[in-house]
Parts: sequence; structure tokens; C-alpha cells
Amino acid sequence: MRVTVFGIGYVGLVQAAALAEAGHDVLCVDVDAAKVENLRQGIVPIFEPGLEALVRENHAEGRLTFTTNAEEAVAFAAIQIIAVGTPPGEDGSADMKYVVAVAETIGRLMDEPKTVVTKSTVPVGTGDRIAEAIAEVLEARGQSDLVVRIVSNPEFLKEGSAVADCLKPDRIIVGSSDPEAIALMRELYAPFNRNHEKMIVMALRSAEFTKYAANCMLASRISFMNEMANLAELMDADIEQVRQGIGSDPRIGYHFIYPGIGYGGSCFPKDVSAMIHAAETVGYTPLMLHAVDARNRAQKSVLFDKVQRHFGGNLAGKRFALWGLAFKANTDDMREASSRVIMEALWAAGASVQAFDPEAMSQCQEIYGQRDDLLLCGTKEAALRGADALLIATEWKNFRAPSFDTIRETLTSPLIFDGRNLYDPAVVARYGIEYVSIGRQV
Ligand code: UGA
Repeated sequence: MRVTVFGIGYVGLVQAAALAEAGHDVLCVDVDAAKVENLRQGIVPIFEPGLEALVRENHAEGRLTFTTNAEEAVAFAAIQIIAVGTPPGEDGSADMKYVVAVAETIGRLMDEPKTVVTKSTVPVGTGDRIAEAIAEVLEARGQSDLVVRIVSNPEFLKEGSAVADCLKPDRIIVGSSDPEAIALMRELYAPFNRNHEKMIVMALRSAEFTKYAANCMLASRISFMNEMANLAELMDADIEQVRQGIGSDPRIGYHFIYPGIGYGGSCFPKDVSAMIHAAETVGYTPLMLHAVDARNRAQKSVLFDKVQRHFGGNLAGKRFALWGLAFKANTDDMREASSRVIMEALWAAGASVQAFDPEAMSQCQEIYGQRDDLLLCGTKEAALRGADALLIATEWKNFRAPSFDTIRETLTSPLIFDGRNLYDPAVVARYGIEYVSIGRQV
């Protein structure tokens, strides 16, 4: 089948590559000419395991192509996927201007029936807005008889495992009441839907809602665990033991109950805020979502608070090694990363940071530029040199089994503040290192 994908961001590019890999002919369109040119040469703008190879192979075989030309893009296929960004507006609502602009473009340029599929995370009701936007443009063109079918098909990929998530999805949510659109989606996703039925067909608005409900639920689990961790600390319990104790209940399960320093990234903070905003728009006060968001904002400062307490509030002139800048492991993404809150608090207190991250160094450089109180180090060991303590902000595999001897010998004082509970406190203690983590006794 032929498919057009609008928006070569995370979601658009990975999904396009996966569809091409499955044998479809996919044309990606973006307004960013430099991005399109780079992709034509096999240069992928994001770090995502397996993506570059997938893009290059499918591009070389002619199934995955790139353009800035909207006319060509609309003419290319009956299926038009919208995967452009929905950045948060000032009030937390998701900004739909790019989505609506694509819808209008499709309306302006189409001259045969189209099935318009939203993959971007969009507020409930956006499908109807897209339908209206296209209908208005068609009417102005005197082409109101052209058939437009609207589908909501939210994406559930995770950064760091996006390729695998797209190639082997847990579920394929299709929101539409149009039998022909549903049949087209079934055909499009047939290669990913072979072993057992993964397609869940529902009403358009339910599909849009499902995406937010999933992310809000996952964010709630994390904030809940972080609250329990803070309490465990005050009540002399160990949250890691508690985590295993509750995870063994199949109704709770082990996934997504890792306590830490809050969730970041481009999805959870944005989607929780957008859902709060949407709830308030319909006259409902979402008490739980407010609490989930508030706990997360506070949790991002928990590690800094511990550092400050330990040094009696006197951080001026101190140097801290920071392992991990990305908002989670296996990505170079620092959007809403807890590391940023920590670094900014340390700087405000007059301390300096020596940071290392396996992938996010250049993003850090882009965000903060050159500054005297930030040293980006080539290795995790180099970041330790002359530092008063080590802080850990990201759960990279590469941080899980360090040489504790090196840490003890390189830091000026043997002290670790671990925001991700990577180590067994007894092991760290054996190496003569003071260890502060989340929800556990020291
Ligand atoms: C999230 C969802 O997991 C995906 O299902 C969804 O498709 C995606 O958002 C999206 O809406 O596009 P992602 O933002 O890539 O994916 O990252 P996650 O793996 O969910 O991690 C989010 C944050 O939560 C990270 O900062 C991570 O460190 C933190 N986290 C995660 C915890 O603190 N504890 C946990 O137990 C799990």
C-alpha cells in the first residue's frame, strides 16, 4: 500500500520506517528542508537504537522516501497519516496548530478520497476538528463531494525501544466508525497483526482518550511510587523491598513502579498537563491528575534537597559529578529531564557540575551552551575528578556496575546520591562509600 506520513519527528519517522519495513511504500513529508535532505542521505536526526539501519535500508530499497513538497505528498497515497508535533501551550493545553495546518493542506490539495489518520497525541475531539477543517476547505473549493474518512490511531512507542515497539506493537488502536476506513487500517497493519489479533477498533473519541488514559495511568503509577518512597524513608522502610512485595500481586505487577526522581520526556508531563486542561475545559477538576503532576514536579528536586541537607545548605564553590542527563536510559533526549532541575538548582546554589551521559552530551551543550559551572566530560570516570560527590540522574546500564574503588579514590569525599536506586546499599557501604538513594535508609 502507499502511505503518506506528515511530520518526521520521533513518531512519524519510526512509524514510517516500520511501515516501509513491512513492505509498504511510504512518503514522509516535512517542512524542514535540512531534515529531509539529511534523511535522503541516511542521516537520522534522533538517536534511537536500530532506527538508522532501518531508515537506510528501506530508503535504499526505495520504499521510504522524503519530501518537502505537500502537493506530491497529498497526491501520493489514499492514506494520509498525521504525525506532527502537538507542543504544550502556555496553559498546558496541547497546541493543535500543526495538526490543523496539515488537515487544511490535505483539504486544499486532495482530488480523490482520502483516509486521514492521526498518530499524534491529540486531545479528545481533534478528529472532529480535523474533519471540519478539511470540510471547510473543500467547501471553499467547491469540492464538498470528495470523501474524507477520519481515523484516530494513537502511537504507543517508547523512546529507546521505539523501533521494536513499532515493529511488534502490543496493540493497534483504531478509532473510527467508517467500515471502509477500518478495512484500510486492517490492511495497512496486517503485517504487524499476524500471530494474534492486536487491533482494537473503537469510536474515534475513545481512541483519542485511550492514548491520554494510558499515559496518565503510567504517570500515576510513578508518582504513586515516588510518594510511597518518600514516606518509606520517613518510616524506616525500604521502598525497593516494598516494590517487590507489591509487584508480586498480579493486579499490580512489576512494571512502572520504579521510584526515582520523577518522570520526564516529551510525553508524560505534556499529556498529564493536557488532560488536566481538557478536564477543566469540560468543567471537571481532575484531583488525581493534579496530584500526579504536583508529586512529579516536587520529586524532581528530591535529590538536590538531599544534597543540600547533607552539606548543611552550603553548596557554594562545591563541585558535583553528575551521571546521566537524558530523561531516561537509551535516549539522547533531555526534554523535561530531572537532570536539568538538579543542575539548575546546583548552579543557583553556587555549585558547579561535571557531567557525563552516554548519548545526551550534545543536547546538553545545545541547551546550556558554554558556562563556567558546567564541564561536559568524555567518560563517567573523568566526571568524578575533584568532585565532592557523585549524583546519578539516569538509569543507564553503563552506570549499574561501576568500579566503586575508582569512585571512592577519585571523589574528594566518598559520597553518592543516587536518584535511580541503581545499587545495593550494602555493597556500596562495603566499599566505604556513603550512599544516599530514594526511599531507602542510608
Ligand atoms: C511514554 C510511554 O511509556 C509510551 O507508552 C508512550 O507511547 C510514550 O510515552 C508517548 O506518549 O509517546 P517515553 O516518554 O518514551 O514513553 O518514556 P517512558 O519509558 O515511559 O519513561 C518516562 C519517564 O518515567 C522516564 O523519565 C523514566 O525514567 C520514568 N520512569 C519510568 C520512572 O521513574 N519509573 C518507572 O517505573 C518507569
